[in-house]
Parts: sequence; structure tokens; C-alpha cells
Amino acid sequence: MMRNDDTPITLDLFADQAPITPGQVEQIGQQSFVLRGFALPWLDRLLPALENVLQAAPFRQMVTPGGFTMSVALTSCGVLGWTTDRSGYRYTADDPQTGHPWPDMPHVFRELAQAAAREARFEHFEPDACLINRYVPGARMSLHQDKNERSLTAPVVSLSLGLPAVFQFGGFERSDKSQRIPLFHGDIAVWGGVDRLRYHGVLPLKPGEHPRLGAQRINLTFRMAG
Ligand code: SIN
Ligand code: FE2
Repeated sequence: MMRNDDTPITLDLFADQAPITPGQVEQIGQQSFVLRGFALPWLDRLLPALENVLQAAPFRQMVTPGGFTMSVALTSCGVLGWTTDRSGYRYTADDPQTGHPWPDMPHVFRELAQAAAREARFEHFEPDACLINRYVPGARMSLHQDKNERSLTAPVVSLSLGLPAVFQFGGFERSDKSQRIPLFHGDIAVWGGVDRLRYHGVLPLKPGEHPRLGAQRINLTFRMAG
């Protein structure tokens, strides 16, 4: 699934964008940031750990309480994993598919998430949940708030891998206008504190082929859930 060749690719989807430099930090809210390329130096350690997690807890498509199958496939690692079914959204200690605990959160995941939180001025971030989303072309995530966690001020740390996507970052009402922010392989978005309950989502993924991850985008979100 993952390849070892890091050939840069250009995508006409973002051709009219100013070039983005790894190391650049963009402030997108009072306590929200995009850390460009922050994860790139970590990926040789992180991707093999991700493969192990995916072997233990493969991606699956879940059903919303309203009865719709999500276009994004999900899995989790950590003490708690986010799930949805007909009875609602919640965190569980066990993978409902196997009845066993979710795989442990690899050390490298936790270290990276903490380093990113610190870079965004959130100290003492102790993630206990890592939700892993897979987008294939056409998959999207409609505007929502993350609010199933016990702490609603601790940040969400969100790592993008693979194909680029357009992240929508809105206000506190679903109808508020949202910013459209392209997220690339290795970028990390962090939002917390006063911005923690902002609506956000992902526009339908455009087709493409990423040199390392193929025709998909994988997003990891770290949270203090329990
Ligand atoms: C999410 O809101 O859980 C996912 C965000 C993303 O895929 O970038
Ligand atoms: Fe979310």
C-alpha cells in the first residue's frame, strides 16, 4: 500500500496556490494553526507503525445514527476509539468489530502529536484517542463539531497524509462561513481552546495518486477523549 519513493508531485488542483514551505506556521484562528510539513521528518518512523495498527484494526465504513454509511472509512488506536452506529456517536475501549481493545497508540504517534500541540502553544497534551480516517476519491466529511470528548478545550491535533484535501474551518454555527484550507501530506492542523468547537469538514477528495500512499488520503486525529 505504501511506497518508498518520495518523488514530488504537482497537482493542478492547487496550481493557483502560493507555494507552501515546510516549517511555515499559518494561524487560522485565535488558537488554531496549520503547521506545514511538520510531520515530514517523522514519517519514516510513523508509517510502519501505522501499518501495524491497520493490520490489527483494519479500516471499516461505519453507519451514522441517521442510518447513512460514511464515505470515509475509520479505525482507531489508543485507550479509546471513536465509533458510530445506529445508536449514536461515542468512544469505546474495544473495537466493536473484534470485541478486543483498540491497538495501543504507537509511541511515535503520541510524541508527534505532543510536539505539534506544543508548537501550537498547547502544553500538557496527553492524547488517549487517535481516530484514523481514510478518504478515497469522492469521500468527504460534512461540517461537524468534535464534541464527544470529555475535555472540550484540549486541542484536536490532525495529521494529513497522502493526497491533498481541502479542509473547511468554520465558526460556531454550521451556517457560518468557513475558510478553505488546502492540507498536504505531512501537514498538521491544531485547534483548541476558544476554537475547539468550531465546525470543520473536508470537501470531496479529488482523484490522484500520491507517491507514498497511492490513491488515498489518511488523516489521524489525536484527542484527549476520556
Ligand atoms: C475530522 O474532522 O475528524 C477529520 C478532519 C480531516 O480529515 O482532516
Ligand atoms: Fe472532526
